[in-house]
Amino acid sequence: MFKNRERVIRLKAELEKIKKETLHKLEQLTTMEELQDLKVKVMGKKGSLTALLKQMGTLSPEERPKMGQIINELRGKLEQAWEEKAKQLEQIALAARLEGEKIDISLPGCWLPKGHQHPLSKVIEEIEDIFLGMGFTIAEGPEIETDYYNFEALNLPKDHPARDMQDSFFITEDILLRTQTSPVQVRTMEKMKPQLPVKIIAPGKVFRHDDDATHSPMFHQVEGLLVDKGIRMSDLKGILLYFSRQMFGESREIRLRPSFFPFTEPSAEVDVSCMLCGGDGCRLCKYTGWIEILGSGMVHPRVLEMGGYNPKEVTGFAFGMGVERIAMLKYGIEDMRLLFDNDIRFLKQF
Ligand code: DAH
Repeated sequence: MFKNRERVIRLKAELEKIKKETLHKLEQLTTMEELQDLKVKVMGKKGSLTALLKQMGTLSPEERPKMGQIINELRGKLEQAWEEKAKQLEQIALAARLEGEKIDISLPGCWLPKGHQHPLSKVIEEIEDIFLGMGFTIAEGPEIETDYYNFEALNLPKDHPARDMQDSFFITEDILLRTQTSPVQVRTMEKMKPQLPVKIIAPGKVFRHDDDATHSPMFHQVEGLLVDKGIRMSDLKGILLYFSRQMFGESREIRLRPSFFPFTEPSAEVDVSCMLCGGDGCRLCKYTGWIEILGSGMVHPRVLEMGGYNPKEVTGFAFGMGVERIAMLKYGIEDMRLLFDNDIRFLKQF
């Protein structure tokens, strides 16, 4: 009997010791691995608490259930304690991860170089804006064109000597890279007939077998066409004067010089008073005071006909300008090739 009591007291003391030690270690540990180790050491097969349980058999039948209860309570308490500790460790780990992944939004961002429009795109948009403001709309046509639209429908039959004015890139005998935006005139008339007015500009790429400081094998033109009842040459002049002043400055004047294009009659070359010297004469205008900017004229009756309009009822004017030339004049660029070299140092200036 006495021995039994002694055992109980000893067991209780050991239980108390295990409890104290375990709770103390639990408080100290900082990782999940340590927590796992501790669990094994206490509750594992060779754990200290498991060892105590094994001694239960030596107790008297009356003491056994009491001790069992005490041990179970301790077990429950410990289970709860490391559950809490596990949660706490998870929280700490999460906080550490969040801290590591933190983004400091007050840091200056990394600067991404931002481009801007090419000077040619700028000039094309400016031309479009001016004509859109006068009620023109924008039309388009293919860059690979048929001989018919590029030449024949513009009153340039096969073997016409005026075809020599434009050295062309032929793909087949009947298909070529368009040498001018003028074919869009006939294509648009065909689409719109019999509506009036036909009032379009057609910007786009054109191609010629040319390459020097003032010519590029690919360049840009903007075509213009206005067909309606009673259109006169004075309408052409008024619109081109307005355009020139918008583009090159309010004090510009223009002059029309007689010229020849197969698709206009009469035809005129249009000069604008020099934007550099104002007309006094300088290197840019070759001391004439005038600078040529485009070709134009009254649409030839044959062209109106081929577009599906009756030249006895309607008249029209047309013009075509080279965008590179306008850009060179506007920005004082001396070599056209600079516009296609894509040298950032050059392009940055616009
Ligand atoms: N297509 C002509 C060329 O490339 C430019 C031109 C002249 C267009 C007179 C026209 C025009 O519409 O009426 O040289």
